[in-house]
Amino acid sequence: MSEPDASRPNGQSVTVETELLLWWEDYYLPVFEYVLPKMGDLQDKKVLELGTGTGGTATLLAKKGASVVGIDLLPFRLDEARDRVKHHDVSDAVDFSLMDATQLAFPDNTFDFVISKSVLVFTEHAQTAQECYRVLKPGGKAIFMENMRHHPVVWLYRKLFLKYSQELHYFSLTDIEALDVAFDKVNHREFHFLSIASLFWKRVIPIRFLYKWSLQFLKVIDKMLLRLFPFLKRFCWISAIICHKKV
Ligand SMILES: C[S@@+](CC[C@H](N)C(=O)[O-])C[C@H]1O[C@@H](n2cnc3c(N)ncnc32)[C@H](O)[C@@H]1O
Repeated sequence: MSEPDASRPNGQSVTVETELLLWWEDYYLPVFEYVLPKMGDLQDKKVLELGTGTGGTATLLAKKGASVVGIDLLPFRLDEARDRVKHHDVSDAVDFSLMDATQLAFPDNTFDFVISKSVLVFTEHAQTAQECYRVLKPGGKAIFMENMRHHPVVWLYRKLFLKYSQELHYFSLTDIEALDVAFDKVNHREFHFLSIASLFWKRVIPIRFLYKWSLQFLKVIDKMLLRLFPFLKRFCWISAIICHKKV
């Protein structure tokens, strides 16, 4: 089910340390501003982060009071992640483990939340989703921030410059909705259709104020376009997918 266009449900607002979003941070900021209120108060909540990489999201969640386990397949990324949590003084709240997201070594009903950012695209969605459902406590949520397949410019960029992208499982809207086979309910919201054009002022002719201004402007235009023409959601770049396990 596609989510209504409300960026801060329940009037809650969140602060996000963009530095911890690590890459494409200006583009992930609205995604985090959307998903964090869905997690509510994180104090003492148990969160599993799939594909934690160098631990930016794990650190962000630990700083909000969560007890986090970050898993990844690459030991050198986990070493960097350990340095990051130490630097931010949240080592006690975060554990890292070398583990495959498709075969989780945790008992059933362990976590309040599972979260991922650009990770399910590396896995078979159905298998990972089943594992996430299993380790979630009743009433828990899996939150996947994942890359979509059909944005025309991103598609061309991947085709030309990212050879490995052919092996990845980018999401279509149908793939997103198929997650409801594993979960009891799935909501999703899509981000960035025209706003990608601002990257011209960052990557081609770097002019900071034009980049910032055009990004703000195009984000507003995107919101309007997606509300008026929902079929355009399939051409967005990122989807925030909220999957529920019922109580
Ligand atoms: C694009 S990076 C994203 C890293 C991090 N989530 C972030 O946003 O900075 C994808 C990460 O997922 C990890 N990964 C890929 N497949 C995985 C799997 N099956 N199990 C666990 N981690 C995986 C990779 O090693 C990599 O660190």
